[in-house]
Amino acid sequence: MTEAKRRAAEKAIDFIEDGMIVGVGTGSTVAYFIDALADIKHRIAGTVSSSVDSTKKLKAHGIPVLELNESGPLQLYVDGADECDPKKNLIKGGGGALTREKIIAEASDTYVCIIDPSKRVPVLGTFPLPVEVIPMGLALVGGVLTQLGGNPVLREGFVTDNGNLILDVHGLQITDPVMLEQAINQVPGVVTVGLFARRGADIVIEGHENPEVW
Ligand code: A5P
Repeated sequence: MTEAKRRAAEKAIDFIEDGMIVGVGTGSTVAYFIDALADIKHRIAGTVSSSVDSTKKLKAHGIPVLELNESGPLQLYVDGADECDPKKNLIKGGGGALTREKIIAEASDTYVCIIDPSKRVPVLGTFPLPVEVIPMGLALVGGVLTQLGGNPVLREGFVTDNGNLILDVHGLQITDPVMLEQAINQVPGVVTVGLFARRGADIVIEGHENPEVW
């Protein structure tokens, strides 16, 4: 799948216009995007990064990283996903960066999602749904997620960039992602649910020899 990830990532460069500040996601597909971005770094005004990890990679390439509060709204956000359904609803958070990713997605006009073909699914939920939780609320949130039909499992030994925990929720068949996103968002202690449905992707690039853009 690494070749597919690279192909999708390189195709995303087509969406960059001169002088843009580009929102940059997190993950192994985005790592290829950052490499490709380095080749055209003179054409962009900078980036806004969704994680400590991506910030490190961007800086290592000498690509400027700005704070979202300084840059203001972005034209373009490029990020991966863990699953993508036909309506471009996504599961994200496999890398634990879901909260910053959701903030940047919301602040961006266009979210270009770069995936390898294994990420495309008819119904979301085979990939366990990540939920970022404030530590004090862990048991409460876990109980509600169980009532909603899931099996929440604590991501062992993992702390998010924001100092919180992740529950990975197994066993969900997410047929109404907008409703489930709203339901989980309302639980006190939940910081972010890794369902990107209310604001999903706008454009998906699937990595093939000729990348599929849909
Ligand atoms: C990070 O928290 C996730 O949302 C990533 O977008 C996702 O895990 C990316 O997957 P890949 O590593 O396969 O690109």
